[in-house]
Amino acid sequence: MTRSVLVTGARGKTGREVIRQLACEPDVEVRAGSSRPYGAETDPAARSIRFDWLEVETWDSAVADVDAIYLMRPDLENADDLVGSLVQRAPDAQVVLLSEQSAEKDTGDSWIRRVEQEVVANAGRWTILRPSWFHQDLTDARHFLKSIQRDRVLRMPSGGAPIAWVDTRDIATVAVKALLAPDIHHGRHYTITGPQGVTLQEVAELLSSATGRTIEAIDQPIEEALNGLTPWITDVLDSLYRRVRDGDFGEPSDIVETVGGAQPRSLEAFIHEHRSEWLEGSR
Ligand SMILES: NC(=O)c1ccc[n+]([C@@H]2O[C@H](COP(=O)([O-])OP(=O)(O)OC[C@H]3O[C@@H](n4cnc5c(N)ncnc54)[C@H](OP(=O)(O)O)[C@@H]3O)[C@@H](O)[C@H]2O)c1
Repeated sequence: MTRSVLVTGARGKTGREVIRQLACEPDVEVRAGSSRPYGAETDPAARSIRFDWLEVETWDSAVADVDAIYLMRPDLENADDLVGSLVQRAPDAQVVLLSEQSAEKDTGDSWIRRVEQEVVANAGRWTILRPSWFHQDLTDARHFLKSIQRDRVLRMPSGGAPIAWVDTRDIATVAVKALLAPDIHHGRHYTITGPQGVTLQEVAELLSSATGRTIEAIDQPIEEALNGLTPWITDVLDSLYRRVRDGDFGEPSDIVETVGGAQPRSLEAFIHEHRSEWLEGSR
């Protein structure tokens, strides 16, 4: 029987990989939900549909008769309400939520935990994914790409603690298993990481070696990184950076192997694969 799966954030770093891998599975109808569904990035085997967290009138047709939803947590202050309302519209679906590593260490009423709780409370079946920082942040213009290209710096408040960076292709492999086999994966929280923790200094050294340019690691104070942000995003990022500093993103898990059936890709391999991207637009 054909399973119908809605993927939200279809053009995002995990969403596009989930779509690509779902499209290779037999008997799966993939709906690629995007606020801008006409871009070239979504897979031709998927059906592009309009899904916008800020336009509730796009939701009902997006979730109509779906068997499963890949739910990319929207970075919006009222994400808990939005996620709860969407999940209530598909009460029988398996919902696979993209949360983040060490969410369990955040306070019980935090934004992160409230979003997870809305899924647990409202979904017929659910799996919570808690990934570490994505390899692909390093090649994303909204994250680290431009400062590496232009300024040759990698800036983050890590306090010297390691991060078990993970590849979004490996997150997608775990997500696809959870989307297609809810009987096995319902009620599970999966911490998804790469093979080992890597410090900011070590990431900069890998980038330097791969590009032949000196990339400097700048370990900022948390207060500096939060300067000028709105109160809500300040709260969310303050918690994030404190957990990074406490080493909560550094512990590797075996979920890519045990659930995904694959060896997790290393950060070193990712950096080697993408080395030309940091040379474009450089001084
Ligand atoms: N980046 C990391 O290292 C990391 C680690 C752990 C957890 N996370 C979490 O993972 C999630 C994704 O993070 P990301 O920053 O890496 O983003 P991303 O996956 O690169 O992209 C976010 C996607 O959100 C979609 N989007 C934006 N506005 C939207 C709207 N109004 N309605 C519907 N979709 C909208 C966009 O897709 P369309 O253009 O297709 O609409 C965009 O591609 C966030 O919740 C983040 O906190 C990130």
